[in-house]
Amino acid sequence: MSTPCNVVVLISGSGSNLQALIDSLAGADTPAVIRAVISNRADAYGLERARQAGIETRFLDHKSYADRESFDAALIQAIDGFNADLVLLAGFMRILSADFVRHYQGRLLNIHPSLLPKYKGLHTHQRALEAGDAEHGCSVHFVTEELDGGPLVVQAAIPVESDDTPETLAQRVHVQEHVIYPLAMRWFAEGRVRLGEQGATLDGELLPASGHSYRT
Ligand code: GRF
Repeated sequence: MSTPCNVVVLISGSGSNLQALIDSLAGADTPAVIRAVISNRADAYGLERARQAGIETRFLDHKSYADRESFDAALIQAIDGFNADLVLLAGFMRILSADFVRHYQGRLLNIHPSLLPKYKGLHTHQRALEAGDAEHGCSVHFVTEELDGGPLVVQAAIPVESDDTPETLAQRVHVQEHVIYPLAMRWFAEGRVRLGEQGATLDGELLPASGHSYRT
């Protein structure tokens, strides 16, 4: 078997996406190994999930660094200590510096709870409801210097129901997140997804601007 892809996951909170990633690697012959989970919050429940799965954890407190650049430099050092081939942002609530993003160009993915390019930033479920959208969903994308703006790998859409609230929408979007993030990780680990000059590619073919459209 070829060497598995070393993955490092960055979190700040509950880590339900982290759990889905962990669970997806439970079988034999998996193309990826999660080497470490790093959090900028000591009380992130995701750290507990990692410990229960026997994965190494690190806590890096952004408040004890003078500025974003020095925190990000420490983060790079920690991540590179695990020989990461792929870095996954899974609810990591920090804006990353240009240096950080450049360092991991082509091997840094994020999951965002909207059908990007709609609703970058926060409160995505509420914004989709307020706009009266018929569809909402989630996206996995390569991270570039533009916040929530890098080339899309995969999206999953769900219909918005007339009685949806931000909470019910969030719940159903989360279910989809837990499917498409493990899928994107696997594709990357298998060498199927790459960041090319023109955008994200799957099996050597340029993906559409909206990424691969995942349907259950
Ligand atoms: C998810 O909604 C993800 O899309 C966003 O942050 C949230 C993290 O949730 N980037 P969890 O910690 O994985 O449960």
